[in-house]
Amino acid sequence: MKVLLIGSGGREHAIAKKLLESPLVETVYCAPGNPGMKKDAIQPVEIMETDHRKLIAFAKEEGVAWTFVGPEIPLLNGIVDDFMAAGLSIFGPTKDAALIEGSKSFAKDLMAQFNIPTAESQTFTDFSQAKTYIEQKGAPIVVKADGLAAGKGVVVAMSVQEAIGATFEMLEKDRFGASGQRVVIEEFLNGEEFSLLAFVRDENVYPMVISQDHKRAYNGDEGPNTGGMGAYTPVPQIPETMIEEAIENVLKPAAKGMKELGRPFTGILYAGMIATPQGPKVIEFNARFGDPETQVVLPRLKNDLAQVINDLLQGKSVDLTWETQGYRVGVVVAAEGYPHDYQTGMEIPNFSEDDLSLCYAGVKDDKGRLVGSGGRLYLIEAFGETIEEAQGKIYKTLKDKKTDHTFYRMDIGTKALLNK
Ligand code: AMP
Ligand code: GLY
Repeated sequence: MKVLLIGSGGREHAIAKKLLESPLVETVYCAPGNPGMKKDAIQPVEIMETDHRKLIAFAKEEGVAWTFVGPEIPLLNGIVDDFMAAGLSIFGPTKDAALIEGSKSFAKDLMAQFNIPTAESQTFTDFSQAKTYIEQKGAPIVVKADGLAAGKGVVVAMSVQEAIGATFEMLEKDRFGASGQRVVIEEFLNGEEFSLLAFVRDENVYPMVISQDHKRAYNGDEGPNTGGMGAYTPVPQIPETMIEEAIENVLKPAAKGMKELGRPFTGILYAGMIATPQGPKVIEFNARFGDPETQVVLPRLKNDLAQVINDLLQGKSVDLTWETQGYRVGVVVAAEGYPHDYQTGMEIPNFSEDDLSLCYAGVKDDKGRLVGSGGRLYLIEAFGETIEEAQGKIYKTLKDKKTDHTFYRMDIGTKALLNK
């Protein structure tokens, strides 16, 4: 079969590679994709992820079996609803269900209603009420724009002053437009973060192995928040009981709750978690695969991913099996300046190492050469019996093939070693 994947980043590159491993899959189209994907025989299609009409026409013309949606924006724009209305098969949540990511206050209400453990919070549209609440609670405290803000709408404030400033920017200065006209002010949770993702169909939840993202730009979790600078799996310092609790007390009630609210969720549900002394607590839900978590999690899946999607689309249950030995580490190489204004146009080297896997993101074609065009350029993923072995392979390659005007973190996965 031919399948269509929506999106253009490293996450989509990883999903497409996994789909191409399937004997069921002949072609993976990726709209819009990126030219780096061609190295793995993925076919970019020049249609924007927001152009539902053209995407539907393409899927019909090419006779694609189904479509898979990578990023959140098309989901929140209702791409699943539009494809279904056109009689096409598509895997992902409807617009109503994607609200679990699209509105933090909706997610908070869902968690309150279905007893899902999360940081204590209140939602505000009025600045002076928000200010009073912050002054009452004290710092550290977390301020979140309600809607999508490309990962930039969260301020972990270390002082009351900073929290009030961030709230002022959102509510009074329209810093994030409509996304920030409502803010969620949340208790600061102390503990290790982990990402728990699952395939979901209505109330059926099929969890994946957990991973840990690195959101800050620089080594030692310094610098500004980014889309994610690298990830690894498994996360040995998170005990198995913590993961079990998160599956039982977070993922399952969330899926069940969405169904009860008349917003049944089918797709990938992502719970951003903090392991607190009181157990796992949610800091966010996403309605899709994580980037860069996917690039390390999917290589551990032993099932045929296309078969898994086929089965879920046909209402069948699935039995997932995962690599149980070793570690997967993924390191993002980003353009100098990212996540602020960054350099573009630098040449991306050719990598040929057999035991490394490349996922391209912000790259474009310039007269047959691959050059940088975005903030996160590519991710290198490797397997190792230990984290050090996987890190060793990646960092040696990156040292040998230094790319001008780029940077990467030297400590992806190191937290697992410090906590041993
Ligand atoms: P988000 O965009 O929701 O993933 O938030 C970005 C980052 O802010 C997360 O990866 C956490 O490191 C941090 N964060 C969000 N909420 C909290 C919280 N309640 N307590 C502590 N840190 C948080
Ligand atoms: N890695 C975080 C995210 O995908 O939202």
